[in-house]
Amino acid sequence: MSIPYGRQSIDESDIAAVVETLTTDWLTMGPKVTGFESAIAALAVTPGAVAVSSGTAALHCAYAGAGVGAGDEVITSPMTFVATAATAIAQGATVRFADVQADTANIDPESVSALVGSKTRVIAAVDYAGHPADLDELGAIARGSNALLLEDAAHSIASTYRGRPVGSIADLTAFSFFPTKNLTTAEGGAVVSTDPELLERARRFRSHGMVRDREKLRYPDEGPWHQEVHEFGLNYRLPDVLSALGTSQLLRIAQFKTRRTAIFERYSEELANVDRLVLPTRRDYVDPMWHLFPVRVRDGRRREVFDYLRDHGVLVQVNYIPAYWHPVFEDLGYRRGMCPVAEHFYEEEISLPMYAGLTESDQGVVIDTLRAALA
Ligand SMILES: Cc1ncc(COP(=O)(O)O)c(C=O)c1O
Repeated sequence: MSIPYGRQSIDESDIAAVVETLTTDWLTMGPKVTGFESAIAALAVTPGAVAVSSGTAALHCAYAGAGVGAGDEVITSPMTFVATAATAIAQGATVRFADVQADTANIDPESVSALVGSKTRVIAAVDYAGHPADLDELGAIARGSNALLLEDAAHSIASTYRGRPVGSIADLTAFSFFPTKNLTTAEGGAVVSTDPELLERARRFRSHGMVRDREKLRYPDEGPWHQEVHEFGLNYRLPDVLSALGTSQLLRIAQFKTRRTAIFERYSEELANVDRLVLPTRRDYVDPMWHLFPVRVRDGRRREVFDYLRDHGVLVQVNYIPAYWHPVFEDLGYRRGMCPVAEHFYEEEISLPMYAGLTESDQGVVIDTLRAALA
């Protein structure tokens, strides 16, 4: 028996929602999509939401919504999945990596300030492990330099920052609904924005850049079938079948959060005095929906502890190698050593199992196995 580091929580109501949708006229582009978008917008307290086919698609639509293109710079964190940077590059931008804070592993506003300039179009923060980044400070830097703040909230849907829900703060926010995330649609994601115009542009990008409103058409008298592409987009639509799963999952989001919080607290208590182990911190002004439980192992013992846990059925993960360590960045001239705090964090990090369905006894196994690894 092994314990994964993350997994989905699917119940009978989720299954019923998907099956019911399969019997309707709309498998995609129908009412379950708009229903899911309304539910996301209500949770994030935003004027609207755009459901898309992955978190990567959400980021790509967000950069397109922000108007990112060739000649622009995007500043982001290296402590993320490669998609945060890759989608900016797909839009033709140059990515600059700012170092992170040693404790939260979130992008450090001071290192962002050192990189920001006239070419900066977007500052893309990542809410590592579900803990919101310093959004007020980052928003102020963005506003001061005519840039937009994008929050990669792949880990942090349902987290709050200074009492405000994630999604309601940054100019654009991107969510992921991959199975290990806080809620799932199998593959899926969403973009929200505090600015309806940015959201509309992201929405067009999701579906080929297609314009249908008569008043926006360049050739409105072409005929009733007519639609136009004004800016290129792609097909990043989320089908109704998966949107129905998302809406069903959202009904249990508070339950998921309660469970993840309890798991976080138990790890924090029971691992508090383990030698060579550093536990995640929480700033007192955030209330995270914990996606990961990232511990750090001191004295160069990370690999040994990782192997021990895996050999004993605890399928831990490492999140993340600094994004610019990927050879594709190396080939573009990015070099190791650029963000020393992130590199040091990576060298010590292990993500322990964290998901709503993790049983108390399995969490006990994780704790005991980790203690034994470090004994
Ligand atoms: C921080 C971060 N950004 C973006 C993504 C991309 O999301 P997806 O896998 O849904 O494309 C992920 C998920 O892997 C992620 O963890």
